[in-house]
Amino acid sequence: MSNTLIANMTWFAACKISDVPRNGGVCVKYKDEQIALYYFARREEWYATQNLCPHRQQMVLSRGMIGSQTGEPKVACPFHKKTFSLVDGHCMNDDECESIKTFPVKVENNIVFIGVEEDDEYTVNK
Ligand code: FES
Repeated sequence: MSNTLIANMTWFAACKISDVPRNGGVCVKYKDEQIALYYFARREEWYATQNLCPHRQQMVLSRGMIGSQTGEPKVACPFHKKTFSLVDGHCMNDDECESIKTFPVKVENNIVFIGVEEDDEYTVNK
């Protein structure tokens, strides 16, 4: 579960646990934005980030490979392997690359919730 806290946060039901592959990700639609949701089964943790890789503006991070680097969970973009922290979104292998946005995640009764700012509108496509 991500530790990111957002003021005035609300939780929306993104999907069921069974919708997300173990050690993989799915894409959830949020307003005009895509959110990548990951189940890091080896650590029994959930994370969410923007789906957009800032390197070449590709919507691909939900298909990235997750892993750990010195204990920090990360996702590697499938295109050019820029690697981002799943905790705070900073790029771990390129100081010039932009950070990505992260979202808190929680699981209740087999439903995965993603935390968003309260005044944001959203839709969920499954
Ligand atoms: S598009 Fe993601 S690393 Fe290049």
